[in-house]
Amino acid sequence: MILISPDQRLFHLLGKTFSYVLYIDDEGRLLDLYWKDPLGETTDLAYLCSQYTCSSSFDQPATRLPLEAPSVGGGYYGTPLVQAIGPDGTDMTQLTYDSYQVVEGKPALEGLPSLHESDRFGQRFKDDAPLQTLKITLSDKTTGLKALLSYTIVEAGGRDGLAKSMVLTNQGPAPLLLTHMDSACAYIPDAASSGESLEVVHLKGAWARERNIVRTPLGQGTYRIDSKRGASSHEENPFLALCRPSATEVYGSVWSAGLIYSGSFEAACYVPDAVTAQLSIGLNSDTTRWLLEPGQSFTTPEALLVYSGRGFGQMSHTFHDLFRHCLGHSRWQHKERPILINSWEAAYFTINEEKCVQMAKTAASMGIELFVLDDGWFGARNDDTSSLGDWYPNLQKFPHGIKGLAERVNKAGTLFGLWVEPEMISPNSDLCRAHPDWCLHAGDRKRTLGRNQLILDLSRTEVQDYIIGFMTDLLSSASISYIKWDMNRNMTEPFSGTQVPQHQMETQHRYMLGLYRVLDTITSAFPDVLFESCSGGGGRFDAGLLAYMPQAWASDDTDARERLKIQYGTSLVYPCYSMGSHISSVPNHQVNRVTPLKTRAAVAMSGSFGLELNLLTMTEEERKEMAAWIGKAKEYRRLIMEGDFDRLASPFDDKTYTASTNLCAWQFSNDSELLLMAFRPQAEPSNAMPYRVYPRGLEDDAYYSDGTHTYLGRALAGAGLVLTFDPTDTACVIVYLKKINKD
Ligand code: DGJ
Repeated sequence: MILISPDQRLFHLLGKTFSYVLYIDDEGRLLDLYWKDPLGETTDLAYLCSQYTCSSSFDQPATRLPLEAPSVGGGYYGTPLVQAIGPDGTDMTQLTYDSYQVVEGKPALEGLPSLHESDRFGQRFKDDAPLQTLKITLSDKTTGLKALLSYTIVEAGGRDGLAKSMVLTNQGPAPLLLTHMDSACAYIPDAASSGESLEVVHLKGAWARERNIVRTPLGQGTYRIDSKRGASSHEENPFLALCRPSATEVYGSVWSAGLIYSGSFEAACYVPDAVTAQLSIGLNSDTTRWLLEPGQSFTTPEALLVYSGRGFGQMSHTFHDLFRHCLGHSRWQHKERPILINSWEAAYFTINEEKCVQMAKTAASMGIELFVLDDGWFGARNDDTSSLGDWYPNLQKFPHGIKGLAERVNKAGTLFGLWVEPEMISPNSDLCRAHPDWCLHAGDRKRTLGRNQLILDLSRTEVQDYIIGFMTDLLSSASISYIKWDMNRNMTEPFSGTQVPQHQMETQHRYMLGLYRVLDTITSAFPDVLFESCSGGGGRFDAGLLAYMPQAWASDDTDARERLKIQYGTSLVYPCYSMGSHISSVPNHQVNRVTPLKTRAAVAMSGSFGLELNLLTMTEEERKEMAAWIGKAKEYRRLIMEGDFDRLASPFDDKTYTASTNLCAWQFSNDSELLLMAFRPQAEPSNAMPYRVYPRGLEDDAYYSDGTHTYLGRALAGAGLVLTFDPTDTACVIVYLKKINKD
């Protein structure tokens, strides 16, 4: 609900779980007075601005103000939302209020993915309020820069967040160089007046160690995370949260922001002194500048602000539901995904038609539904040194082409899927010989290779059209039900051969706009194909790509124990069913660890389930055991896809977030079922203290059965479940409870 008091110059965005209050001060500046628990249907809130008065004559008042659209000048020293260098050479941009408008619905963002109305589960969301968007226009009277800020409360089943974006238009007579165009900034009220400080939480990592949770005290100054790599990256994720030190999974205030974008980004917390903390997120201002000619506009990516008054659990529920129900358009969004077997760890580059058909036959006999041919099928690709760009089958390995292979795989009893890496080009490829300047590059400077390859310049329309063309031909040429869209290196010379110097710093963002155009075109033209994104594992696990491809390969590390941290961390923001997650062989190829099959199956089942091993070298007994787990995965997949996910015990040490604990547990639940999985990484002596976990979301007076015992909901939640692990490393307990009538 949007409540407006023109007299009091106040806008109150009242959601089910939060209020966000905006106010225009006497100087026409837009202030963010409040973002926390819902305040009820009132607009008598202007008094809140009295807390921002300045007590010292040395301080500049603007530094203390919760400016909704801060910029350089006037005594503001934090992270600007907007900054533009004007014709006078200064970067002063002072945005003051012009007007507001409320529109029904939520307009899509030009060229960028964004959230939409939750129309996916019909009935289930019948109580969601129809969307309304508040648009506030600010302008810099000197340069003529106009900022149109958009705010929509987006809701799915009573869980809601605030979607924010901005369109900058140059209404002045001279070009303006945009140097900052963040998507959102917001303020944490009473940052210290409650006597408690704040902590910052984000998802940090590296290749094979993606999205580990970092939680650290926030002091005065700026705390900034970013990616400059032209991808959201393995190293950081476009998400940042602030919380009280006492916040847990079920308790305390958490303020968080996620960005619906897949390229370079920045997120920061700025604490000028003890009164406010500013949280901001948007495009990376180091890597992106944009020259806005008179009359032109620039649209920022969308940010999603989520406040939770009940800890990180509620925050994740909100992100999960908004991303599940308000982000993607794929027909697969709410369909059970086929259980797949991927050829990569089974055969790497030594793959051929016969192996594929044999694997597909064996897979079908075990209940697997989709066979995926990974890298190595095209051009002269026998290792990673060549052929990216030559997207025609290698007829020595695949004599009947992709069409013939797909037919044989289908006949063997599974669907057929294929790996591609469309954004890349190998120097040793026919494509590169034909178009040596189609890669990103900076004039005559060295073109840095990564995994022996260069990146195509997707800022160029002809390159986008080439990708759309070959993908359309490929997908039309054979019965292909699934595409794994990989991207295996980051940008090093993010510049374009066709761009004039004053627009070169736009290339990274123009690349992303090009990529989104390509993805939008292809996924719309082939709506029945399931797309999974990948980037050397989880190097582009973000909401921007999830808008087009409903699942993403979470990590190249397929070791179940390593995956506990990766998947637990990823679940902070992203729904579990969006994580591609496979059982691989033992010893594991990345860490050489041997892990029981039950544990490998439970971890893989906790995402979009698949296998990544050589079925042909397994014994009959091993295949039977594996087939039983495949059966279980089918039994649980709807619950895992649609249920609420709760983290019960963290694999990260609570204090340092660096060391590991010896218990990790999570659960999936809906109104009538609960699936709990607990993992103990290291074996302990039989007389060690048993572990106990406390299931959540049970009805107090309902009874639940695990097939052997019957439990009263309140008893289970209050007294917990005692876990009995097998005496081995990386042991696992799986408990499935169903609500029963006990008469
Ligand atoms: C990186 C991916 O993460 C792997 O799963 C695999 O597809 C390889 N690329 C293939 O080159």
